[in-house]
Amino acid sequence: MKPLNFAVIGCGLLARQVHLPNLRSIEEAEVHTCCDLNDANLELCKVFEPKKYTRDFHEAITDPEVDVLLVATTEAFRVPIIEAAAAAQKPVYCEKPLADTLSNALAIERLVEQSGIPFCVGHNRRCSPAMMEAREIFTSHMRDPAPRAWRFERDGVDDMPIGNN
Ligand SMILES: NC(=O)c1ccc[n+]([C@@H]2O[C@H](COP(=O)([O-])OP(=O)(O)OC[C@H]3O[C@@H](n4cnc5c(N)ncnc54)[C@H](O)[C@@H]3O)[C@@H](O)[C@H]2O)c1
Repeated sequence: MKPLNFAVIGCGLLARQVHLPNLRSIEEAEVHTCCDLNDANLELCKVFEPKKYTRDFHEAITDPEVDVLLVATTEAFRVPIIEAAAAAQKPVYCEKPLADTLSNALAIERLVEQSGIPFCVGHNRRCSPAMMEAREIFTSHMRDPAPRAWRFERDGVDDMPIGNN
């Protein structure tokens, strides 16, 4: 099987410490393109021997050689990238958190649903014991909706008394 060519968009600390080394270690993956606005970060990507470097995420996404997009920009800059990925019909692995605002998260959800692209958000800690326990605590409160002084009200939390939690 031909390895999948990845374009890594956003080659900051996390991409360089985790994703790029991981991609290099996977036989079925190739680091094809490193994309970042920051030239110094692109320079630091040399060690991963990508085929291409670019500052332009459109160029990375529309490159016919690129099969998969790994988006590790900061969460404030995700919608335009995912919009371009949806238009190009390319699968995306996106770092968490998905977005910086609820409206951006909903915009991304719409783009993904309408385009049908495979899309994964990297919640790498969702199966850790602490997260599993937190999930159980939250879901038990959903099952048992007895009023509690510290429960978030759906209408907002602005008038929630401080110190009652
Ligand atoms: N899954 C985890 O456990 C985990 C851990 C750490 C960080 N993160 C998430 O990963 C993301 C990145 O974190 P980081 O610490 O690497 O941040 P960082 O600031 O070091 O890297 C972000 C990079 O994106 C680049 N960038 C921004 N806009 C761009 C654009 N339009 N085109 C190309 N590149 C662009 C920046 O130049 C920067 O190099 C954040 O959303 C963070 O929350 C997840």
